[in-house]
Order: sequence, then structure tokens, then C-alpha cells
Amino acid sequence: MDKESGYEAWLRYRPCESEELLGHYRKYFNRVWFRQGLEIMRTAMQELSHGAGIITRCTVRLCDEGWQGAGIAIGLIDDFSELKDLLGNEILGTLPEDGYLMRSIEHEGLPRLVLAARSANGMLYAVFHLLRLMKSVQRLDRLNIAEHPRNALRMINQWDNMDGSIERGYAGRSIFYRDDEFVSDWSRIRDYARLLASVGINAISLNNVNVHERETLLITDELLPKVAQTASIFSAYGLRTYLSINFASPRQIGGLPTADPLDEGVRAWWKERADAIYRHIPDFGGFLVKADSEFRPGPYTYGRNHADGANMLADALEPHGGLVIWRCFVYDCLQDWRDRKPDRARAAYDHYTPLDGRFRENVLLQIKNGPMDFQVREPVSPLFGGLSKTNQMLELQITQEYTGQQKHLCYLPSQWKEIVDFDTFALGEGTSVAQIVSGKAFGRRHGGVAAVSNIGDDQNWTGHLLAQANLYGYGRLSWNMEIGEEEIAWEWTCLTFGKKEKVTDTICCMLLDSWSIYESYTAPLGVGWMVQPNHHYGPSVDGYEYSKWGTYHFADCHGIGVNRTLLTGTGYSAQYPSPQFERYESLQDCPDELLLFFHHVPYTHRLQSGKTVIQHIYDTHYEGAERAEGLVERWKTLEDDIDEGRYRQVLDRLQEQAEHAKEWRDVINTYFLRKSGIQDIHKRPIY
Ligand code: GCU
Repeated sequence: MDKESGYEAWLRYRPCESEELLGHYRKYFNRVWFRQGLEIMRTAMQELSHGAGIITRCTVRLCDEGWQGAGIAIGLIDDFSELKDLLGNEILGTLPEDGYLMRSIEHEGLPRLVLAARSANGMLYAVFHLLRLMKSVQRLDRLNIAEHPRNALRMINQWDNMDGSIERGYAGRSIFYRDDEFVSDWSRIRDYARLLASVGINAISLNNVNVHERETLLITDELLPKVAQTASIFSAYGLRTYLSINFASPRQIGGLPTADPLDEGVRAWWKERADAIYRHIPDFGGFLVKADSEFRPGPYTYGRNHADGANMLADALEPHGGLVIWRCFVYDCLQDWRDRKPDRARAAYDHYTPLDGRFRENVLLQIKNGPMDFQVREPVSPLFGGLSKTNQMLELQITQEYTGQQKHLCYLPSQWKEIVDFDTFALGEGTSVAQIVSGKAFGRRHGGVAAVSNIGDDQNWTGHLLAQANLYGYGRLSWNMEIGEEEIAWEWTCLTFGKKEKVTDTICCMLLDSWSIYESYTAPLGVGWMVQPNHHYGPSVDGYEYSKWGTYHFADCHGIGVNRTLLTGTGYSAQYPSPQFERYESLQDCPDELLLFFHHVPYTHRLQSGKTVIQHIYDTHYEGAERAEGLVERWKTLEDDIDEGRYRQVLDRLQEQAEHAKEWRDVINTYFLRKSGIQDIHKRPIY
């Protein structure tokens, strides 16, 4: 078999191998009718011709007149009167923005397929859906599909710096920037846009949320033409471009003495910049802002709050329809909680709930999934549901900062499903995070989801080839959070490696087991952070840089875990409404996997599983390392079924993971056995 690099990812088209299916497809692709229109329509047709051309091994004939005979008709509802006759005004009238219909019909005994969308984006999504069906070798004569995205904003955040580095990037250098300039070869960016659009992503922020000196200039006339060029590549694929901005810009580049959001000069400066941006990029999305966090400037410097800061930017963007996405990632703990110890987990809720209802309509608060920072296991942030009069957005991390840095396999849709399905009880039972961030629960105008990208200029995009499944999975979930992680795993595997059962079964099972494997040899029972400082890779129980200001596991010779109860701890548990509050507050009811996040217990405390805490730590670390070894063995069974290039890449990573898992096991177990001083646990025989 050929050596492949993995570059094509899930848009890897190969000729259909079944003669019968080939004949079937060709009947449809003999003629494709569509109406010339917006640029995105042309993109959709290019994608269709490209993908279907390879699958059917013939040239797709596009035409815009004389709809007769067999074939496919593709159109925007308003431009294609024939579609209305065919599908009926009623159905088409209820189709939401970016939604589409795909329906097989017979016309005078001839097979036809109709794809109808309300917007050009919808068209593009319909085309990618059709190609997905064909790649999973499905017939086209019984389709009756109606689809629409559940989240209006489906965003990717690049953490790229203009020097070419990527904050928390594990797959090479930036595909956007090199040596403080934009790259000149755009083909890679275009291919990235294709990948993102194919799973329904419709927004991208182009630079790191930590905005350094050079990137502060992205909103100046010097760099805006370049930003506009990049933005136009994404526009053609239906993605709006956003920029991360530096809150101190008026001072740093505007020559003003202050960046106070209530200062008239500052407000005028941002308005003028916003006008300039929209002159260059008419469909510009807006600003992404990290303020007053990890030493970034923000409104606090001027005695103002986050709403003052966000609203000032929102006023500048509002005339153009732009949005402000304001991140809620703050550490500082407000100290007025009944003299309790400061607890970083409390920070976002404490800062933002008092401001509920004080943000402009075009502001969204972007909230990390957990109260801390993308650990392998955290509870869901109580801020979801804590705000009812403010637009909210979920922030996830696709890049695997704390989940193995794309050297270890960790399929994140398993984790994300638990997050989006979590019941906040904000409006009584059944108020899931998915419903809150879509805007549905509280009837909010804007909502959605964003995630930090995991790609770089590595040939296979994501370093670990199987980490492509995380990017794919993020797109699919941001479209519809009800899709199961199994279904996503199957789709991705099938699109990437073909539909051979042995291959799909093996890879899907590996993906679906991987989060739990990673968790078991790294972070027990909700204790995170036991990583080396700054780069965060590899075990170091007390290594995390912020541990200096208080340990993150609170282990001593008596016990382990952080007491976050209302009764005797930091009071964090009370940020959840009933009955989640009672569940976490109670030592008996708190789920094992989060026990040490909420409670400080003796090592001999018995878990719901029946094991003591120390025995659990010991056993899971052994089992985890063994299961990591098992991944290598499972992959090896596919040696003859996968091309050598991709087979080897994955094998190398899995072998590295298996070795590293042993290091994790030994560091963690040695530390806690020593710390607890407990000898009488069931130990593994040493050979
Ligand atoms: C984490 C990460 C930082 C990042 C920050 C953020 O703390 O380690 O690199 O800047 O999250 O989300 O802003």
C-alpha cells in the first residue's frame, strides 16, 4: 500500500470500489444543476466536482439551465423556483438559517436528488454532507434529510503568534505566520478552511488570546490588508474572521495616555479602528478578548469591571454587526466569601454573576468548560446556568495541553459529551449546558461554542494522526451536540481510513477507550495539575507553576483532595443549584471521579467502588499503563489493513505513550504511597 502522510485528513477521496454503486452514483452525477451566485456557492460546486469526481471516476457535469432528466439539483430556495414546486413552500419556509434539505425523488422514472438550502453556507454544508454519505458508501435513492446547526456560532480559536510559534501547539509551527509576517503560500490555509467548513465551523479567530507586541498591530492599517487576504480565504468557505485584541491598544499603539474603557478618547479610538477594520473586511466577525487574566491588561487597571470593558468594544462594533467575545478565564479570587480560603475554582462565577444583565446584546461571555483550566477531569463550570441575562459560549480545548499533547491518544468528544449533556438545573431538571450555550434555554440572541485548535504545519496537521478525530469531532458536536461520541468516532474513522469493518471497529474502540485510559494513569479522582511546570507535559506532582500559591491536591500524610464544600471548605460547591450542590457537597453522593475535587479525605476513605482511595490510585495507574500498552497491540492488528505511512506514524506515537504511561504510573504511585505512609495495600508482584 502507498505511503500516505495523513494530509488529506477526512477529506480523503478515493474511487468507489463497488461497480454497482459506481453505476448508481454516475446516474446522479451525469448532470448537476445549480445557479451561479455567491462565492460560497462556487466553492460548494468546486468541492462537489472535486470529491464526486474522484469517487465516481468521471467528470461531474455542472450546468445552470434546462433542468431535465436524471441528476442532482442544488440551490438556494429563493433562487430556484423549481425547488419550491418540488418540496413545497411549507417545508422550505421552516428551514432555519444555514439549514438544508436533501431529498431523493423520482421524476418520470428517473432518479433525482435535490439539495435545497436557505443560505450559501447551508449549500456548502449540504454538499459536504452528500460527499460524506458517498464516502461511507451509501446509496442516494432514499434520502430524506433535513439538517440545521443547533449553535449559531461554531468557532475555532487559533493560539498562533506572528513569530510562527503556537501557544500550546503540538503539531509544528503556525500555518498563518512566519518571522512576524503572514505566510505567502496560502494553499495550506485554504485546505484548513476546507476541513473546517466540511464540519460546519463558521468562525475563526486568527491570533493568540495572549496578544503580544506584534499581534497588537493586527488592527492597524499596516497589517489589516494582510488580515483581509487571510479572511477572504475563510469567507469563501463561510467562515467569519475574528481577531484577538490587546485591551491596552489605545495606549500601546494609539498614542493615548490611557485605555480606560469609560474615557471618551479611548471609546472614539476603538470606534475609528472598528470602522477601519470593516473597510478592509466587510464580513469581519468581531473581537476575542482575554483581559485581566494571566497578566493581560484589562479594565481593572482603571477601576472598571468586565462589563465596562466589553461594552466599550461592543459599542464600537455594533454599527457593523460585530460581536465581542469576552473570555471568563480569571484566577483572582474575591476574598469576601465568609473568610474562606481563596479558591481559584470559584473565580469566574464570583466575578461574572454579579454582572449578569449588564452586558450589551452583541457581547458573548466565553466560558471554559470547567472552573479551572482544561484538566482531564473537572466538574462543569457552574457559570453555565449562573447567568440568565447574558449571552454565553462554551470554550473547549482541542489542543491537548493537559491531555497528552498529541503524543498520547485522547479522544476528547467522550469528555465533551459529558460536558454538554451536564444538567445545570438552572431552569429545573433538563437544562443542559447544550441548551444554555445555544441560547435556547434563556432565549438569548447569540450563543455557541469555541475551541482552541490543535493544528500546525505538521504534514498530518495534528501531530498524532488520530488527534484529527478531535478536530472533526469538535466540528460535528458544535453543529449538533446531540450526536453521540460513538457515531462521531465511526464517521471519522470511516472517512479517514475507509469502511473496512475490522479497521473501523478497532480504531473506534481505541478512540472510545482512550480518554479513560489517559485519565487512569495521570489524574486520579478529579485531582489535576500534577504536571511539569510551564510546558505541562509529563508527571510532576507539585510541579505546576501556580502550585507556589497553594498546592492543587492538598495531599499530606493524613489525606488528599481539596475541601470545596460549603460546610467546611471553600464554599465552591454552593455555586451549583440544587440538586447538583447537594450531590457534590455530600461525601457519600459525590461521584468517585470528582471526589478529590470536592473533598479532602483520608487515604483509607472507601469509594463508591468499594476500594480505598490509595488502593484506587495504585490500581488505576497500573491498569492505565497496561491499557496504554494494549493500544499498541490493538493498532498492530491493523498493519496489513492501513497504508504504511499512516500505520507507522500512529504506531510510533502509541509506543511513546505506552512508555510514558509507565513513567506517570511510577511517579504518581511512588509519591502517594510515600506521602500516605501506607504499606498494607494490595501491590502488584514485581518480577
Ligand atoms: C492556560 C494555558 C495558557 C493560556 C490560558 C488561556 O492557562 O496554559 O497558555 O493562555 O490557558 O486560556 O488564556
